[in-house]
Amino acid sequence: MRAKIMKIDPDRIDAAAIAQAGEILLHGGLVAFPTETVYGLGGNALDAGASARIYEAKGRPSDNPLIVHIADWDALSRIAAQIPPRAGKLADAYWPGPLTMIFPKKNVVPPETTGGLDSVAVRLPSHPVARALIRAAGGYVAAPSANRSGRPSPTTAAHVAQDLGDEIDLILDGGMVGIGIESTIVDFTEEVPTILRPGYISEEMLISCLGEVRTDQALIDADSALPPKAPGMKYRHYAPRADLTIVEGEQSAVVAKINDLAAEAAAKGKSVGIIAARETADAYPLGLVKTIGSRAREEDIARNLYEILRAFDETQVQLIYSEAFYTPRMGQAIMNRLLKAAGHQVLHI
Ligand code: TXA
Ligand code: MG
Repeated sequence: MRAKIMKIDPDRIDAAAIAQAGEILLHGGLVAFPTETVYGLGGNALDAGASARIYEAKGRPSDNPLIVHIADWDALSRIAAQIPPRAGKLADAYWPGPLTMIFPKKNVVPPETTGGLDSVAVRLPSHPVARALIRAAGGYVAAPSANRSGRPSPTTAAHVAQDLGDEIDLILDGGMVGIGIESTIVDFTEEVPTILRPGYISEEMLISCLGEVRTDQALIDADSALPPKAPGMKYRHYAPRADLTIVEGEQSAVVAKINDLAAEAAAKGKSVGIIAARETADAYPLGLVKTIGSRAREEDIARNLYEILRAFDETQVQLIYSEAFYTPRMGQAIMNRLLKAAGHQVLHI
């Protein structure tokens, strides 16, 4: 069955449409919906069968836990067994918003939702469509990013339809998302709150709110012997079909190197793609150049990243060279995604 796509204006929410989507979730069905980060694939988080359906639709490994989305702070205590005061402080600062917190779970959350873990990841999104849907669905919506496992996360309803159109019941189309990369994940089951996935809420923002914060060692050191604490971070997500290499260094040297590589590849009859900032995009005479945004507007770079990776998948490009984007605030999150897409292939020059 092909999913129905329903347009919904985030500024003027159609209550009847939301009620219909909520009914689907209450009956164990799956509904994709926009959040401020990426589109989510929603199912009732307290229904083991719905969670199982999410894994099946995405082709996701069953050890990779789902994030439970709530619409109100008060909903948290029904699913989280211990909520440290520091988590309350962080919620005051950044909920609703692009932040996920991990707590010991209560029994009401089935193991199917948490990949068998004793903890539960919880997010209170700010997107009005997401919040209305969560309320209509009884308050607890499990939602991974609404891509097929291994594809870039979806930033538009069309991306969701491409990947999951045949697997789910309904897609709520609220337009392109605002942020474009997934939420920051902070683990509160540790002695010191620990970042398991970087996102829009940066390490500096967390430190200024919480004081001490750690970062999962597996994020800092790609060759770490320890597995990442967020099971999903161990997979090579977001892999484009073409072979992607990041070229890092001083700007003019990077441009020269990418041009050399593009010329070499062209001489061998290979088709090349290039991911460039607006400032340097015109400096590449060869290859299919995609402009990700200005270095002065890092939000644009974050928002366009997945769209560009998907767009290259629609072309015949075999090799992609990308500039690096260590921008001031979101650079850590952007580069975390880009490095994974590249399987950590980086040329330092
Ligand atoms: O922005 C987002 O967080 C989006 C939107 C839809 O809300 N959702 C999202 O979900 O990115 P997903 O499933 O694609 O990524 C969830 C990540 C995975 O890496 C998973 O392993 C980790 O969160 N995770 C979930 N529950 C966890 C837990 N109890 N302990 C450790 N990691 C957990
Ligand atoms: Mg995902």
